[in-house]
Amino acid sequence: MSDILISDEGSVRVIRMNRPEKKNALTLPMYSAMADAIASAATTDSLRCLMLAGAPAAFCAGNDIGDFIAMAQSGALGQPILDFLYALVRSDKPVVAAVNGNAVGVGTTMLLHCDYVVAGTDARLSTPFVGLGLVPEAASSLIAPRLMGQARAFALLVMGQPLSAAEAREAGIVNVLCDPGETDATALAAAQRIAALPAQGVLMSRRLMRGAPDEIIRRIDEEADAFKMRLKSPEAQAAFMAFMTRKK
Ligand code: COA
Repeated sequence: MSDILISDEGSVRVIRMNRPEKKNALTLPMYSAMADAIASAATTDSLRCLMLAGAPAAFCAGNDIGDFIAMAQSGALGQPILDFLYALVRSDKPVVAAVNGNAVGVGTTMLLHCDYVVAGTDARLSTPFVGLGLVPEAASSLIAPRLMGQARAFALLVMGQPLSAAEAREAGIVNVLCDPGETDATALAAAQRIAALPAQGVLMSRRLMRGAPDEIIRRIDEEADAFKMRLKSPEAQAAFMAFMTRKK
């Protein structure tokens, strides 16, 4: 069974993270598969909307911490991570997300690039980057302060204070809340509504609203340079080891 499931539901491409035994922690092959699914949708006219989804009780536990340890040793960040982020930022197709349970790290920051986010009332968004010895990524250091203001962005990105589903809606990350059992269906219905709109009108409106992606891409690269340095820091190494050897 693949860790990323791709299914085209009419004109909606559903990209589902499917590693529930690890709460959908993302490995490099998972990033690659998601990047490819987004990029190939870009050249398929019949696909008009993308939907990101997770497992019933876990949207995404962030980057696989074992992979972080390997990256720190190799000194490289992992090109598939950047490929996924670039594909998401450059996507001309609207992106809807269905979030249940925990969305940690990139599980939260990928939502900042989505157009419409549906969250179950059990959703919990968190970005414990700094506590892990790291820095924010995915251009969250640029987008989050603009979206929710400096104060709330600081609490989320630097202090690592989680957001409940209701707080995430209040912060402007989430559009609608629903019963956790209805998240996928609600998100798919929204994606289908978007897909049924005039495609060129959606594309042009979206481009007008977002502007050129260059500034976002530049910030992703800037953050990635800092992230690479922090991965090797004693703080990050200690945090990764503490997670890998924790007693449950
Ligand atoms: N990397 C690697 N493995 C991870 C992981 C991650 N980011 N997140 C969870 N897992 C693994 C756990 O080690 C555990 O594996 P095991 O069963 O082999 O021991 C399994 O997934 C289930 O996780 P568990 O912690 O038991 O689930 P939970 O429901 O109690 O908690 C989380 C879920 C997401 C809150 C918790 O797993 C967590 O905090 N994960 C780390 C998140 C993180 O810091 N990500 C990096 C952000 S930059």
